[in-house]
Amino acid sequence: MTILTTQISFLLLLLLYVTTFHKITCTNHTVVRCNEKDRETLLTFKQDINDSLGGISTWSTEKDCCAWEGVYCDSITNKVTKLDMQFKKLEGEMNLCILELEFLSYLDLSYNDFDVIRVPITQHNITRSSKLVYLDLAPLIFDKTLHMDNLHWLSSLSSLKYLILSGIDLRKETNWLQAVSTLPSLLELQLSYCKLNNFMIKPSIEYFNLSSLVTLYLSGNNFTSNLPNGFFNLTKDITSLDLAQNNIYGEIPSSMLNLQNLRHLDLSENQLQGSVSHGIGQLANIQHLDLSINMLGGFIPVTLGNLSSLHSLSTGSNNFSGEISNLTFSKLSSLDELYLSNSNIVFRFDLDWVPPFRLHALSLANTNQGPNFSAWIYTQTSLQDLYLSSSGISLVDRNKFSSLIESVSNELNLSNNSIAEDISNLTLNCFFLRLDHNNFKGGLPNISSMALIVDLSYNSFSGSIPHSWKNLLELTYIILWSNKLSGEVLGHLSDWKQLQFMNLEENEFSGTIPINMPQYLEVVILRANQFEGTIPSQLFNLSYLFHLDLAHNKLSGSMPNCIYNLSQMVTLYVDALPSDTTIELFQKGQDYMYEVRPDRRTIDLSVNSLSGKVSMELFRLVQVQTLNLSHNHFTGTIPKMIGGMKNMESLDLSNNKFCGEIPQSMSHLNFLGYLNLSCNNFNGTIPMGTQLQSFNASSYIANPELCGTPLKNCTTEENPITAKPYTENEDDDSAKESLYLGMGIGFAVGFWGIFGSLFLITKWRHAYYRFIDRVGDKLYVTSIVKLNNFDRLWSG
Ligand SMILES: *[C@@H]1O[C@H](CO)[C@@H](O)[C@H](O)[C@H]1NC(C)=O
Ligand SMILES: *[C@@H]1O[C@H](CO)[C@@H](O)[C@H](O)[C@H]1NC(C)=O
Ligand SMILES: *[C@@H]1O[C@H](CO)[C@@H](O)[C@H](O)[C@H]1NC(C)=O
Ligand SMILES: *[C@@H]1O[C@H](CO)[C@@H](O)[C@H](O)[C@H]1NC(C)=O
Ligand SMILES: *[C@@H]1O[C@H](CO)[C@@H](O)[C@H](O)[C@H]1NC(C)=O
Ligand SMILES: *[C@@H]1O[C@H](CO)[C@@H](O)[C@H](O)[C@H]1NC(C)=O
Ligand SMILES: *[C@@H]1O[C@H](CO)[C@@H](O)[C@H](O)[C@H]1NC(C)=O
Ligand SMILES: *[C@@H]1O[C@H](CO)[C@@H](O)[C@H](O)[C@H]1NC(C)=O
Ligand SMILES: *[C@@H]1O[C@H](CO)[C@@H](O)[C@H](O)[C@H]1NC(C)=O
Ligand SMILES: *[C@@H]1O[C@H](CO)[C@@H](O)[C@H](O)[C@H]1NC(C)=O
Ligand SMILES: *[C@@H]1O[C@H](CO)[C@@H](O)[C@H](O)[C@H]1NC(C)=O
Ligand SMILES: *[C@@H]1O[C@H](CO)[C@@H](O)[C@H](O)[C@H]1NC(C)=O
Repeated sequence: MTILTTQISFLLLLLLYVTTFHKITCTNHTVVRCNEKDRETLLTFKQDINDSLGGISTWSTEKDCCAWEGVYCDSITNKVTKLDMQFKKLEGEMNLCILELEFLSYLDLSYNDFDVIRVPITQHNITRSSKLVYLDLAPLIFDKTLHMDNLHWLSSLSSLKYLILSGIDLRKETNWLQAVSTLPSLLELQLSYCKLNNFMIKPSIEYFNLSSLVTLYLSGNNFTSNLPNGFFNLTKDITSLDLAQNNIYGEIPSSMLNLQNLRHLDLSENQLQGSVSHGIGQLANIQHLDLSINMLGGFIPVTLGNLSSLHSLSTGSNNFSGEISNLTFSKLSSLDELYLSNSNIVFRFDLDWVPPFRLHALSLANTNQGPNFSAWIYTQTSLQDLYLSSSGISLVDRNKFSSLIESVSNELNLSNNSIAEDISNLTLNCFFLRLDHNNFKGGLPNISSMALIVDLSYNSFSGSIPHSWKNLLELTYIILWSNKLSGEVLGHLSDWKQLQFMNLEENEFSGTIPINMPQYLEVVILRANQFEGTIPSQLFNLSYLFHLDLAHNKLSGSMPNCIYNLSQMVTLYVDALPSDTTIELFQKGQDYMYEVRPDRRTIDLSVNSLSGKVSMELFRLVQVQTLNLSHNHFTGTIPKMIGGMKNMESLDLSNNKFCGEIPQSMSHLNFLGYLNLSCNNFNGTIPMGTQLQSFNASSYIANPELCGTPLKNCTTEENPITAKPYTENEDDDSAKESLYLGMGIGFAVGFWGIFGSLFLITKWRHAYYRFIDRVGDKLYVTSIVKLNNFDRLWSG
């Protein structure tokens, strides 16, 4: 989760970067106000910075350091008082000698990409009477390891009020609490994602005095501890406390209720147990309360209903039991976001209840709502996000339901229910639309031209793709799997220029495969339709494509004989996604996780009427792990180049007319776990002494002239030379050739993987929104779109 969140923060920061980078400073070339000593300090600081991108280029061209980018001087003394280097793309070493600037009160080096921090060795160079009030060193990328061994150097910064070191690796600092408690004026402390692991403080927590603190962010560390009861005595005036994602266990200490000024409390994603005290109703000022993703049990205290300042309430993914009724919410008139998903609570809301709030986000996913759609939800006409997946809903009030779902503006998720409406006359205005696994019937609805994700799979939609869908210019991800859709998809595809993921499996689409495929496509699944004609060569020119499935159609002709430009299947682009990332697809019947990952590359052309020789180009796609050409009419031999496809895990060439011998080089395929060469015209001996013998006879049967283990013995008279022993070097040349080709093809994939896939992965998206939430900001999908475009420019 940490990595996800940090990468996501990285995305956001990039966005901010775009908007702040080109700041133009107005300078006066005639006067040099700058103090000479300050200038020297600044130049020492600059000396170790790698500014290859020119973020602080004015530092060398201007004489007056007060006119340098990011440097601010006092108008009377001309001493440097403020240094703001946020988002300057600085790399190399961050030398904190900069703290020697005598009158510096504000230092912001955040969101850069430094590799090392040099902290002052002794404190005596930083004046005891340091004026520094604000210090922010948080890096742009949290999981890039920017270390700091200890925080001792902080002790001279006696005026410090704001200290932000989030994202710096502080695991070696064994008593961070002691270090920060030497700062008498500290108001705000942010040490999120610092890899802190010591929370139980010795000798005892009361030893420390952090009484001035009002904001404390410690999320994403690894405290693996309970919350000491005295912890909340540290910080009585605190208004914002974030302890999310910390592996904290045990009960919520009752001393928390002393924090009367608390406005923002986030304890989510820990392992807290026990029940929530009724006393929580005393936190009268609380606006944001997040207890989600813990193991809290018992009843949700009815006193929550006293918290009339609440804007955001999250209690989902706990072990709460009992009932919750409209009474609990009767005073929560400011409520804006309500997340109660994944719980067994019984909801007892009167049918005629009209809530006092107007929500922007509501999540009741995976709760026992059904079979009726809760009537009070229809009153929420300002929803941006509505998550009601897996809630057992089958009955809706048609008119109210229609206007509700049309009004949802960001994400509508009704997956995994049994809703059987005809919504063909509606226009859905959200960016993220998930109605999969229901019984929706009739024609497809109209969709906002801003839609990014559309998943309507496993329903009974029929008819063809509406003409209005031509306008889905931002569409990134479309799944129509398993419906009764028909007609041609020709015209639309070329308009969906941003499309990355397309699954039209199991419908009755017909016609030829369009030749103008969007160039960013990563996944193309047209399986089990009625497509006919030849495979357009343009498909093999999609450099991001890593999953191509055209199986079970009526395709004919031979495979295109052009140069295959499928770079993703040749180069293993490691940064694309964390390797444990999965994209959810669904198999008929049960839900299951089907892994589509950039490191799992697939070509499946099986069960068509393809013929002719297989293009040599196919065997140059050395990263392909699954290749299925079975049940076609392919002819010709398997080239020994196949030995270069070293990642192959599953190879099916069965039921074709392949002939000739099985190349010795196939024994290079060390990961091969499934092989089927049956029902062809292969001849000669199965290469001996290799793992090709570990497959049983069914992998080879129905090749009348093929022999050797596991098939029948070859008779030596017929075949005197074929029983030669396996030799290591025979195919080295071809293997090397493939490898070489793999390296040759461009590295230009850029960050596309990260950006592209953000849309595909629920987990990420939620983390993304959570992050936005934490920052207290609201950047909506338009920003994602901007990021998208920005990245594209960047990766060129
Ligand atoms: C630049 O300096 C000159 C000479 O001191 C002064 O007259 C002028 O107002 C200054 N301009 C700006 C923009 O500060
Ligand atoms: C500075 O950064 C650039 C780009 O990241 C890199 O190519 C170069 O080697 C770096 N120089 C030093 C001295 O670190
Ligand atoms: C302290 O400052 C002096 C000169 O002002 C310098 O020679 C010395 O290297 C500095 N020490 C550290 C630890 O930065
Ligand atoms: C903590 O420090 C503040 C001022 O710095 C002081 O007023 C307060 O009494 C101290 N509290 C404890 C428990 O030492
Ligand atoms: C967190 O801490 C626990 C115990 O101290 C340790 O076993 C675990 O590996 C740590 N996790 C991470 C991600 O550092
Ligand atoms: C915390 O403070 C309260 C009063 O403010 C006091 O009653 C309690 O004993 C303190 N707890 C600890 C563990 O210091
Ligand atoms: C808080 O809620 C409880 C139960 O709903 C109620 O009895 C009590 O009067 C409320 N307290 C305040 C201060 O509103
Ligand atoms: C959840 O609560 C039930 C009682 O409501 C209890 O039996 C069960 O052990 C709890 N599960 C966990 C994981 O705490
Ligand atoms: C709300 O809940 C209370 C208690 O469950 C009930 O008495 C009341 O009639 C409900 N309905 C409305 C519309 O508030
Ligand atoms: C859709 O609109 C048409 C024309 O207005 C109407 O005939 C049809 O009954 C509507 N379908 C549904 C499901 O409301
Ligand atoms: C296998 O068949 C090919 C023709 O398809 C022939 O040239 C070759 O000699 C045969 N090899 C053996 C060992 O029979
Ligand atoms: C096949 O040949 C091996 C030795 O080459 C022999 O041990 C085995 O019995 C033979 N099997 C058959 C079915 O002829």
